[in-house]
Amino acid sequence: MHTAIRAAVFGLSAGALAQQIGTLTKETHPPLSLTHCTASGCTKEQHSVVLDANWRWVHSTSGSNNCYSGQTWDTTLCPDGATCAKNCAVDGADYSGTYGVTSDGDTLSVTLKTGSNVGSRLYMLGVKGQNYELFDLLNQEFTFDVDVSTLPCGVNGALYFSEMPRDGGLSATNKAGAPYGTGYCDSQCPKDIKFINGKANSDGWVPSSGDKNSGAGPMGACCNEMDIWEANKISTAVTPHPCTKNGLAVCTDDTTCGAAGICDRAGCDFNAYRLGNTSFYGPGKTVDTSSKFTVVTQFITDDGTAAGNLKEIRRLYVQNGKVIGQPKSDITGISGDSITEDFCKAQKSVFGDTNTFDTHGGLKTMGAAFKRGMTLVLSIWDDYTAEMEWLDGVAYPTTADTSKPGVARGTCATGNGAPATVESNSGSATVKYGNIKVGPFGTTYKSS
Ligand SMILES: *[C@@H]1O[C@H](CO)[C@@H](O)[C@H](O)[C@H]1NC(C)=O
Repeated sequence: MHTAIRAAVFGLSAGALAQQIGTLTKETHPPLSLTHCTASGCTKEQHSVVLDANWRWVHSTSGSNNCYSGQTWDTTLCPDGATCAKNCAVDGADYSGTYGVTSDGDTLSVTLKTGSNVGSRLYMLGVKGQNYELFDLLNQEFTFDVDVSTLPCGVNGALYFSEMPRDGGLSATNKAGAPYGTGYCDSQCPKDIKFINGKANSDGWVPSSGDKNSGAGPMGACCNEMDIWEANKISTAVTPHPCTKNGLAVCTDDTTCGAAGICDRAGCDFNAYRLGNTSFYGPGKTVDTSSKFTVVTQFITDDGTAAGNLKEIRRLYVQNGKVIGQPKSDITGISGDSITEDFCKAQKSVFGDTNTFDTHGGLKTMGAAFKRGMTLVLSIWDDYTAEMEWLDGVAYPTTADTSKPGVARGTCATGNGAPATVESNSGSATVKYGNIKVGPFGTTYKSS
């Protein structure tokens, strides 16, 4: 689940070219390496990351008037979505100063709040920095180190894949593209995206009731999403979210944007706590979130090749040289320690959830998205919709009976994840993602 997108950042400097390119702040992509492994060894490649356009200052192409500020569009520059895209430019980003994003080349640090900015979302670029790096993880494993030790209830450090357009959706009305972080989409079909397919989402934009930096337009940006990692120090989930359309698809009404629409918004999640193992993940637990560890996610196909259909997603952890498998479900009626079609069916049935995972094509559809190529997303966010209770709360829905299986997601008291609380008490919460590796099973990690 990814719903929070916002940025309250307006430069006061001048010079630029939504969708055109602004030049008032120089855009310098933070470096981030990607290592490719085989049985004979690993090779490190230098890549970089780019901040999503939604967080950036959007101003007039001719000067420095805001096209968008807080929750509203300037009606002179943006009388309609098409004109707005022509009149407005997204500018470069001061990654560390404004957004709290820093890198040493191998590890990216992302802080929740810096000044008036809250959260951020970044995408890995290809080595040349012009397009998003596309990943196909079928018959491969994806590995990274993570430090979630400072992420409290209500904060989500997320590493995942979305089927975004490789060039960010470059077009006659989007000159910015991937080097400025355009083209985002995910399985929640977010409507808070300011520009979609080269058009501002400004016609009929409704300010958010809770979030002073956000709003929603008439268009939602839907696409396949594979949540490798959604986590804080309390809980974690791995969740495929397939969609019935390939690539970025725009939804425009409650039906196509909703639960039975283009994408499986709920997904099929594996959260050990929700599956009854309350001693597996957390500070001082089997995977001890008070210090760094390695997360390995394997994508197994039905014929043991990259050409096959995705049939299973497995998770391993490595901490202090010890390999730790995902625990088996402890819930009666749900078995297994990985995501398979059977696991998803059983889980939906026992938890009383509608199986929208299955109706959107399940693992096979998720795998097909990888064959086309998906973009790596790294983010930190807090949740104005559900206060992250679906990830870490003692009960979700918050009013549900906690003795029912599937209701408890973690140890966070109801309300602890409220954005106002989180932003005032835990603004310095910082997630670190590092040593990202891809390769055949067993090549990207070691036990000692
Ligand atoms: C939770 O998982 C750990 C690690 O696999 C295991 O040792 C422990 O027995 C599990 N606890 C329960 C209650 O299943």
